[in-house]
Amino acid sequence: MKILLTGSSGLLGHAYALAAVRRGHTVTALYHQNRPIADGLAKMIQLDASEPEELTKIAIELWPDAIVNCAAISNATSVEADAMRAEKINVALPRLLAQLSTHLGARLLHVSTDMVFDGQSEQPYRSTDMPAPTNLYGQTKLMAEREVLEHNPEDPVVLRIPILMGNSPGGRRSLHEKLIAVIQAGKKPKLFCDEMRQPCSASNVAEVLLELTERRDLHGLFHWAGSETLSRFEMGQRILKHFGLPLDAIESACRDDDSRPARLTFDLNPIVSKLKTKPIDFAAQLDELTSIEPLNA
Ligand SMILES: NC(=O)c1ccc[n+]([C@@H]2O[C@H](COP(=O)([O-])OP(=O)(O)OC[C@H]3O[C@@H](n4cnc5c(N)ncnc54)[C@H](OP(=O)(O)O)[C@@H]3O)[C@@H](O)[C@H]2O)c1
Repeated sequence: MKILLTGSSGLLGHAYALAAVRRGHTVTALYHQNRPIADGLAKMIQLDASEPEELTKIAIELWPDAIVNCAAISNATSVEADAMRAEKINVALPRLLAQLSTHLGARLLHVSTDMVFDGQSEQPYRSTDMPAPTNLYGQTKLMAEREVLEHNPEDPVVLRIPILMGNSPGGRRSLHEKLIAVIQAGKKPKLFCDEMRQPCSASNVAEVLLELTERRDLHGLFHWAGSETLSRFEMGQRILKHFGLPLDAIESACRDDDSRPARLTFDLNPIVSKLKTKPIDFAAQLDELTSIEPLNA
């Protein structure tokens, strides 16, 4: 398939590019500030996706079979710091991609987040549950979902995913990379023992996205996550243990406000029974991690 991929230099976009190329697809990879490092891409194009004209021109020239949107301002602090920019990338871009995919007859796969929920439910969230984001990042992602489903009602996939593990291309974007960087800077991070999450690896999500790219019989709003629920503190401890670091390099704390959802877990039905890719546990996610250079220095 001819695939147009946005955010190809990010944690998830990079994993998707690797998986799609491995499966023999022709991938045109868009990026903004960081050039993608995956081999075998058909083309890499730098652009600011907040500029709609250039993106529209690229999409029409390519006329792809599928558009996969992994571009985002993915960090809540960056969204708060520049709400206008976040609106352009997190909301206006998915809207444009939905319009373009409808025009081109291309499959659209858009990535969303568990942060569209407030985390008050004790039960795993189903894709039919009512969202209630607690911060601006979650709000932009919810608006994007609605734009995608409105502007591509025929053949969209919106995949909500949880906090991601994995090796990011620049080594600075994923959970363990950020944690270890803080520790190496001489700080002792506090991780919440009452903030429950269902982490997943970027490569596992990429496999799911790729299967969904190829499966035109599946469309709609879906949930995907790992097979284990852990607190942030437990995740931190398991990461430290994996890298042979002292467990007291982090501190356990309690959440201080409700802008951080307490419990974000997903019911993976109906797609979990329809896909070949299966959810993986935290040990398998840790096994994928490469060592971080300064640790060995
Ligand atoms: N990471 C997580 O834990 C997590 C959890 C739940 C949901 N998600 C969702 O998963 C998706 C992928 O997230 P991620 O973690 O892979 O994000 P990421 O590592 O922060 O990557 C974001 C990507 O967006 C690109 N981008 C940002 N601004 C752009 C612009 N103006 N023009 C063009 N491209 C631009 C970046 O390009 P450059 O690097 O080249 O600037 C990068 O490739 C997002 O929709 C995110 O909301 C992520």
